[in-house]
Amino acid sequence: GICTEYNGNYSKFLQLKKSRMDAWNASYDAQEKKIKEERKWIQKFKLKQPQATKQRSAQLEKLIKSPEYVQKPPFVGKPFRFRFPDAPRLSPEVAEVKGLSHAYGDGANPLFEDSDLFIEKGDRIAIIGPNGSGKSTLLRILMGKEEPDKGAAEFIGSNVYPAYFEQNQADVLDLDKTVVDTVQGDSNGQSYNELRALLGQFLFKGDAVEKKVENLSGGEKARLSLCCMMLRESNLLILDEPTNHLDIPAKEMLEEALQHFDGSVVVISHDRYFISKVATTIVAIEDKKLVKYGGDYKFYMDKSKDFKAKVEARYFSGGARIGNAPVVDLEELNKPKKNFGGAKTANMVTRKDKGIKNAKRNKPS
Ligand SMILES: Nc1ncnc2c1ncn2[C@@H]1O[C@H](COP(=O)(O)OP(=O)(O)OP(=O)(O)O)[C@@H](O)[C@H]1O
Ligand SMILES: [Mg+2]
Repeated sequence: GICTEYNGNYSKFLQLKKSRMDAWNASYDAQEKKIKEERKWIQKFKLKQPQATKQRSAQLEKLIKSPEYVQKPPFVGKPFRFRFPDAPRLSPEVAEVKGLSHAYGDGANPLFEDSDLFIEKGDRIAIIGPNGSGKSTLLRILMGKEEPDKGAAEFIGSNVYPAYFEQNQADVLDLDKTVVDTVQGDSNGQSYNELRALLGQFLFKGDAVEKKVENLSGGEKARLSLCCMMLRESNLLILDEPTNHLDIPAKEMLEEALQHFDGSVVVISHDRYFISKVATTIVAIEDKKLVKYGGDYKFYMDKSKDFKAKVEARYFSGGARIGNAPVVDLEELNKPKKNFGGAKTANMVTRKDKGIKNAKRNKPS
């Protein structure tokens, strides 16, 4: 710990302490920003100017070890609401799936046959379908990670900046970094205290933020990469089962942040509560086709009674937590609301606006 002496009475002391903490935080954040820029420069000119980059890199390392280096301020947990960075402007058309056919193996059981789907600006789509029906495959094809057998799934807007959260994230992290260094590397103007608050929400508290990524569990790695994804600037979030490793408070934070996000969202989830909170459109994989249901989850369930029975039986009855989740009154939720960030159509609500005021989530038993 560090010991500091203050002169004067107690309230003066508190005042001094606060301004001293503010100054400490500000100079630490400014320093980290500079270091980040310097590292970027070094990365960029490594090949072109090996001499200069080597020198600057050495200077940087020296600074970090010197007494001038501003140490991390202590983290003071404050109530905090996470918001995604503002989405860069998006054109009205975002992505299109056209005549998509795809099969694995001998091709006897295709996942998709001549499927179409159009994704527009402002869409908040939940993709649902049984296990193994091709949801993750669809997103991989859309992200250009896999070639389809026939047809296409691609972005059509000229300014689509996707942020993709893969179902299996473990491989994309740098194993040598610590947890806090990892999020600092992806930060987008957030202060150290904001980053710590975000990490705290994802259950990285106290010393845990100094853990090395290589020592994290699978769930911890998934939570950390979700943190990183939430910091990047994007106007299209593509999330493959983002809530799998989250506890209820973290899930609620993600729900709320998504409700206030002003870009488009495509999310795969088996969690109907989560879907009902974030999606305004359902896309179901039915008979190897993508069927789009305008409206929301409740609308979808009402319309497709058949599927409702299947869906309920298939994935929602088992888990105690989701099995008992309250049904959200989406009509209430979808009444015209105060306008957040200029988005007019999106289903954006604040906590007190929600039509589920009295609904409580049941804790997993
Ligand atoms: N590279 C691959 N080679 C062969 N088969 C594959 C490959 N990738 C996926 N599959 C198969 O394709 C089917 C669809 O997989 P996908 O991961 O897209 O399903 P999903 O709908 O995301 O399922 P889940 O809900 O379990 O995540 C599965 O039967 C899977 O085993
Ligand atoms: Mg999947």
